[in-house]
Amino acid sequence: MREVEHPGGSHPATLILGIGELTTNAPGAVGDDPGDDPTGVVRDAALLLDGGRVAWAGPESACAAGVEEALGRAPDRVVGVEGRAVVPGFVDSHSHLVFAGDRSGEFEARMAGRPYAAGGIRTTVAATRAASDDALRAGLRRHVDEALAQGTTTLETKSGYGLSVADEERSVRLAAEVTDEVTFLGAHVVPPEFSGDPDGYVDLVVGDMLAVCAPHARWVDVFCETGAFTPEQSRRVLEAGAAAGLGVRVHANQLGPGEGVRLAVELGAAAVDHCTSLSDDDVAALAGSWAGFRSGSGDAQGTVATLLPGVEFSTRQPYPDARRLLDAGAVVALASDCNPGSSYTSSMSLMVALAVREMGMTVAEAVWAATAGGACALRRDDVGHLAPGARADVVVIDAPSRTHLAYRPGVPLVHGVWKDGREVVHPPR
Ligand code: NIG
Ligand code: FE
Repeated sequence: MREVEHPGGSHPATLILGIGELTTNAPGAVGDDPGDDPTGVVRDAALLLDGGRVAWAGPESACAAGVEEALGRAPDRVVGVEGRAVVPGFVDSHSHLVFAGDRSGEFEARMAGRPYAAGGIRTTVAATRAASDDALRAGLRRHVDEALAQGTTTLETKSGYGLSVADEERSVRLAAEVTDEVTFLGAHVVPPEFSGDPDGYVDLVVGDMLAVCAPHARWVDVFCETGAFTPEQSRRVLEAGAAAGLGVRVHANQLGPGEGVRLAVELGAAAVDHCTSLSDDDVAALAGSWAGFRSGSGDAQGTVATLLPGVEFSTRQPYPDARRLLDAGAVVALASDCNPGSSYTSSMSLMVALAVREMGMTVAEAVWAATAGGACALRRDDVGHLAPGARADVVVIDAPSRTHLAYRPGVPLVHGVWKDGREVVHPPR
């Protein structure tokens, strides 16, 4: 694993030369015809970073003029990447990193034939409640750095292993120390002390718990699934979160069919995550949510279908059918769902590899979904692409093309990472 540093100070103007294949993800691509290659690819490219943003991107043959126009002086630093591929930093729009404890025994038992059930979440709840702030903080930072070393420069993370007013407040507060993309998931499962009174727990979530958590969070989420929360309970949680000023995202249709996807679309959720078990109506609702945006008749974005193939890998379940969603015109993101139960991996490269190998996505679609798709799922227009003005979040791959992310599964191909224009991961010097 490459070293991760967190340098402070200014953002040196940096010119990256010798890029064999530059994926830019032109920002207009979201509304393009689904049949189009959604990625802008420039070969033999250069990229200029300045002030934490992309200042210029294009063919290296045009870079002298580009740098002169964008910067008006020589860059502070010139880096050659010797023909390697460059992609935008991965945008992981779904993780659960505020936790303590270990569930490797559960994984081992599952691989020996025991099925996955949502109830294992309670094991992590007990360990998380018992952990000190510093232990939770250390775990969070370790996982964020682990993700960054693998090219994840934007990361959403959730509460959901506290499930009491104090433990959920602590979870979102600690999460806000490492990311702006914090999600309040008090409605993850019903905790043991409310096992006979799930509606009473929902009262707590939409009342005192939301009141103390909302100031630390940007999003509200609910696990709408048999064994977790009903569609009616989920609606209460999401509507209360929205009324408190939070954006809506939903866990749904993971373990079986249900109303969660249609509820998410109805409520204008930014994303509905898992989407493993979808009806034709669910697919049509997800695709239809983008209709106004695509035609230019509305500026509200639709609901992204976020697929989490680490879950199907780690629970040995059938993968979601990405091809069906894409062919219907839905917008698809890929995320890790990094959590100690159903998917304990922070590797977005693995998500790309699984999406290509198992879910019918092309390499271009999978890389787009892991970068620009994640940005759509977080309603962010500053990340997930490398056009001028975008955040200078850049991943250099130790390979001549992004295809190697899927072609060489499991190989640590990240050669370097810039976040906000600062080099945070670099090869040994
Ligand atoms: O996204 N689906 C609900 N929550 C997590 C699982 C968390 C766990 O098993 O601890 C998920 O897969
Ligand atoms: Fe999740």
